[in-house]
Amino acid sequence: MARLLSIRDPDTLTLAVEALRRGEAVAVPTETVYGLAADATNPAAIAAIYEAKGRPRFNPLISHVSDLDMAKAHVAVSPLAETLAQAFWPGALTLVLPLSETGGIHPLATAGLPTAAVRMPEGFARELIAAFGRPLAAPSANRSGRVSPTSARHVEQDLGDRIGLILDGGRCRIGVESTIVAVDDAGLRLLRPGGIPVEAIEEVAGMKVARHAARAGEAVIAPGMLVSHYAPDSAVRLNVSEVRPGETLIRFGGAPVAGEDRAAAVLDLSPAGDLREAAANLFDYLKRADATGGTGIAVAPVPGHGLGEAINDRLARAAAPRDPA
Ligand code: TXA
Ligand code: MG
Repeated sequence: MARLLSIRDPDTLTLAVEALRRGEAVAVPTETVYGLAADATNPAAIAAIYEAKGRPRFNPLISHVSDLDMAKAHVAVSPLAETLAQAFWPGALTLVLPLSETGGIHPLATAGLPTAAVRMPEGFARELIAAFGRPLAAPSANRSGRVSPTSARHVEQDLGDRIGLILDGGRCRIGVESTIVAVDDAGLRLLRPGGIPVEAIEEVAGMKVARHAARAGEAVIAPGMLVSHYAPDSAVRLNVSEVRPGETLIRFGGAPVAGEDRAAAVLDLSPAGDLREAAANLFDYLKRADATGGTGIAVAPVPGHGLGEAINDRLARAAAPRDPA
């Protein structure tokens, strides 16, 4: 089983850097979700991530950096990209940028694309990257297709028998993955809604972010390519106005839902109607709803503005038809 170390323990940083130098994949807390991190320049280390996750190889990874200079060593940062990085880094914004010719991010981390997804995380994760001195490739630290982990316990449940080291930083502050935006000559394109609302990005950029506008022939469209993503074990029904007896209800804003007195359990993402709180609780509540042993999960409507866009995106994936595998 994986060893669990608190990020507050003074030896943790050193032990984690040593594991990364050996080419191991280490579970690391970030402000969005826990990542399964490994040296983005080392193909064997990246392979260790794919192996632990059981992830399809065509899905490229985010490379995490500790500062803008580290990003610039690996990708071409346009003035527009730099404006966004200055405004939102460290933070929950991932930029997809052209690889630079001299960069060292390995093609296994980019799935051979001419671009790389780059993000600077907050806090301990950033300190770890700075101490390691190279970008860390890190997808969410869950088995492929499963709900992303927002606590060390979630990681342990999903990957505890497949990795050596889990760093425990408590609960993730934001709780949904980063917003992914491609930056190129044509402007900005949203590849995945996430922890930074699109409206905030548009305000800083002074331009619209195109939605659902992946270019024809583009090899990868983040992560909707895999229709069922973030899948709980139970069947999920969305936008319900009435709960069926025995279902577990996930609702929002303290609003009662018809039939909830006969629900197996009632979980409110944010009784006060705060979308930030709802995002932070989302993945944990999906897991908890799974654990109640109800006949299914019924989800009442969640508003779509701000962080609600990311919440509704993840809920739609949780409810999508499953692969037969
Ligand atoms: O908050 C987050 O983003 C978390 C934490 C750990 O940083 N990471 C995360 O990684 O969610 P992951 O691998 O689960 O999702 C990254 C997404 C993938 O769906 C992939 O398709 C997309 O980023 N992506 C990566 N590189 C890309 C590229 N060059 N072009 C387009 N999409 C890319
Ligand atoms: Mg993921």
